[in-house]
Amino acid sequence: MMTKPLRIALTKGRLEKDTVTLLERVGLDCQNLHHKGRRLILPLPQAGAEVVLAKAADVITYVESGVCDIGIVGKDTIQEYASSLYELLDLGFGRCRFALAVKQGSHFFEGYAPKTIATKYPKIARSYFEKQRMDVSVVKIEGSVELAPLLGLADGIVDIVETGATLRENGLEVSRWICDISARLVVNVASLKLRKFEIESFVTRLERGLNREL
Ligand code: PRP
Repeated sequence: MMTKPLRIALTKGRLEKDTVTLLERVGLDCQNLHHKGRRLILPLPQAGAEVVLAKAADVITYVESGVCDIGIVGKDTIQEYASSLYELLDLGFGRCRFALAVKQGSHFFEGYAPKTIATKYPKIARSYFEKQRMDVSVVKIEGSVELAPLLGLADGIVDIVETGATLRENGLEVSRWICDISARLVVNVASLKLRKFEIESFVTRLERGLNREL
């Protein structure tokens, strides 16, 4: 009997290349991922799997709903959007950090005037300021968040910093580091019960690849 392929949701863009490198390191033929054209469902026959390319937040939706068994997605997206999935593996790539950033020379934590924060990650921003016992307004921005303090919409941003170039080139600086981020392998709760053997052997295979030098 043909079993249906394990479905792996992979975050499009930044995490794609490192994921393909890892899959190839563990001996999987990734031709379909190299020559994908505009296709969004790509068979990975040697793993009895198929890869679905999706935006980060959608990876969480697909895995939590069970239409995908496994997801590869940043810890940032997990913290912001996930509620019920298993996080099985830190893949170690896609490393960056969350930071509170402000205009160079400005002192976010001084004074009593109410503060506004712009971010793509309102949940993470709120939770950070709750821990600081600070009452701030949070404005959700969809991209290029660095613009918000420059335009005068916000006093600071909570965003991802990778190289720091975007902050530097826009006259902003880190005020506080919040936490580290990297790519994670996540699994649907029911899939881990129903397809335990397949999922565990796939995860173990990747884990071995991670322990080998690049
Ligand atoms: C991310 C992040 C920063 C930038 C940080 O944005 O939101 O803007 O990368 O990288 P750096 O420290 O290496 O400069 P992304 O490129 O995903 O685009 P977006 O802002 O439009 O979401």
